Amino acid sequence: MVSSSRLLLGALLVAAVAGGIAGTNYGQARYDRVFSFGDSLTDTGNSAILPATAGGPFTNPPYGETYFKRPNGRASDGRLVIDFIVESLRLPQPEPYLAGSTADDFRHGVNFAVGGATALDMDFLQSKGITSFVPVFLSNQTTWFNGVLQLLASARNKQRSLMASSLFHFGEIGFNDYSFALLNVLSNDTVSLAESLVPHVVGAIRSALLDVIAAGARTMVVAGMIPMGCEPELLALLPGVAADYYDRASGCITPFNQVAQLHNRELNRMLCQLRRAHPRTSIHYGDLYHPVTAIVSSPTKYGFGGMPLAACCGGGGGPYNFNFTFFCGTPLSSACADPSGSVSWDGIHYTEAANRFVAHAMLRGL
Ligand SMILES: *[C@@H]1O[C@H](CO)[C@@H](O)[C@H](O)[C@H]1NC(C)=O
Ligand SMILES: *[C@@H]1O[C@H](CO)[C@@H](O)[C@H](O)[C@H]1NC(C)=O
Ligand SMILES: *[C@@H]1O[C@H](CO)[C@@H](O)[C@H](O)[C@H]1NC(C)=O
Repeated sequence: MVSSSRLLLGALLVAAVAGGIAGTNYGQARYDRVFSFGDSLTDTGNSAILPATAGGPFTNPPYGETYFKRPNGRASDGRLVIDFIVESLRLPQPEPYLAGSTADDFRHGVNFAVGGATALDMDFLQSKGITSFVPVFLSNQTTWFNGVLQLLASARNKQRSLMASSLFHFGEIGFNDYSFALLNVLSNDTVSLAESLVPHVVGAIRSALLDVIAAGARTMVVAGMIPMGCEPELLALLPGVAADYYDRASGCITPFNQVAQLHNRELNRMLCQLRRAHPRTSIHYGDLYHPVTAIVSSPTKYGFGGMPLAACCGGGGGPYNFNFTFFCGTPLSSACADPSGSVSWDGIHYTEAANRFVAHAMLRGL
């Protein structure tokens, strides 16, 4: 018994190391399932079930119209980055955590991401004067993961082999923390408030990564922050007058993008430390910032239309077409005729076309 499980473990190690040497591209390795974490950019159905968010706009048409032909809990007209990654790795679709309960539901992978989730705990954000709305934090998602792991395999060696054959996808997390800070009406310096969160958000991501590494994770992808200053919601709600507020080339809000870049620098520094401390775990950075910035700055070059800062679905017109009165999925909203020409679907989340572009850039660049 002992020797056969050692052999098995040895074979897995060889496979894992070979996979790591074969390329920096995690898309070339083989996995049996994916476990994923994050917020609405990665949520494939949890927030539609969570009592605090059930019945939200994402559960109404025209969400899902392009690919699923019906609302399906995803905050897009179609597929998300995680969907394209799962498809290209030919993996089964992970079960939204709140949609399942048994080992059978979860054995092909689980998506723990929840729309509106923050990296930081609500109490911590509150202590900074920041109100969040969805009572799910990254720490909840890793707690849920540990429960699922126990359910799938109680013996330690079974857990190890399950972990070794799984891909861990940490989707973007922290956007909600930062945007709640940037939109905080009680602060007179919201950019500094958002910046002050960066080490804490990166620390929360580090704790989550250490949690799954301790459980035996061997391959993980950790997405960085999106260019927050290019979000139609923030552009519409937070206009500025300072000469250097808007980036001349893209029209995005420079100080908000600087917060995102600070996050990405600190995240990458933390990932370097983790790689040194855990050389047998392959840790990839998933760059969302540059692919999104590329299409926003040169939309027609990449097949998008000429108004990359306008939401497709929503209302209110103008360069951003964003106003909460007309939020996508509510009665007064309407959607553009061809979402594939837009970067932003609803002013906060991307279209399927943008998600496909980003996912392919991620799979190529890793
Ligand atoms: C998230 O974790 C906190 C404790 O950190 C807990 O109080 C809360 O109930 C959890 N939320 C969910 C939805 O499980
Ligand atoms: C912000 O408010 C604090 C007091 O609450 C004040 O000391 C500070 O000068 C203000 N900063 C700006 C940029 O107005
Ligand atoms: C949003 O739309 C409402 C209704 O038309 C309007 O009263 C309000 O001024 C708009 N808000 C902004 C920020 O444009």
